[in-house]
Amino acid sequence: MEVFDCVSTLSSIRSYIDKEVPEEVIMEVLEAGRLAPSAHNDQPWQFILIRDKSKLKEMKKYCLSGSFISQVDFAVVVVTYPASKWHEIDSTRAVQNMALTAWSHKLGTCWIGRLEEKSLKNYLNIPDKLNILTVLPFGYFDERLTNSVKFRKDPEQVFHLNSYGNSL
Ligand SMILES: Cc1cc2nc3c(=O)[nH]c(=O)nc-3n(C[C@H](O)[C@H](O)[C@H](O)COP(=O)(O)O)c2cc1C
Repeated sequence: MEVFDCVSTLSSIRSYIDKEVPEEVIMEVLEAGRLAPSAHNDQPWQFILIRDKSKLKEMKKYCLSGSFISQVDFAVVVVTYPASKWHEIDSTRAVQNMALTAWSHKLGTCWIGRLEEKSLKNYLNIPDKLNILTVLPFGYFDERLTNSVKFRKDPEQVFHLNSYGNSL
């Protein structure tokens, strides 16, 4: 898929089908995260690949706003270093890289933001001083059930020309 096609069709997926993702696709998604740019090239992230199905099911109790974690083929836990000033911004770029790369392979994901963070850190042996930005579930989905309509502000609500308030 072309980059803009991916950007314009990408949507959050919250229902997945039971279908295995090839190893090379999983590795490409991870690579897309690793290759993201970051302030001072700090690369303030770690990516934990979760493929163990029983673990994915168990993680449902820590993913308060993402029960669909239990349906997916794999997930990536995005861990960041709070000591690095822009750790969340940098790591969010890694997330978007992974989401778009996955989408180009017809794989969906959805940012899971509300986590039982302390317990999840415990469960995955993540040092307490690190931060969990998000858990990203990845899996194939039924494209017929996907809502292709994007609910976004209209261009005239967000675009300006040469100065603020001057419509484009
Ligand atoms: C920082 C962030 C946190 C989000 N947290 C959640 C979440 O916890 N659970 C969820 O189902 N969706 C979550 N989302 C997905 C948004 O609800 C979604 O991106 C938005 O409604 C736009 O829909 P779309 O992604 O399908 O275009 C999150 C998205 C972002 C960027």
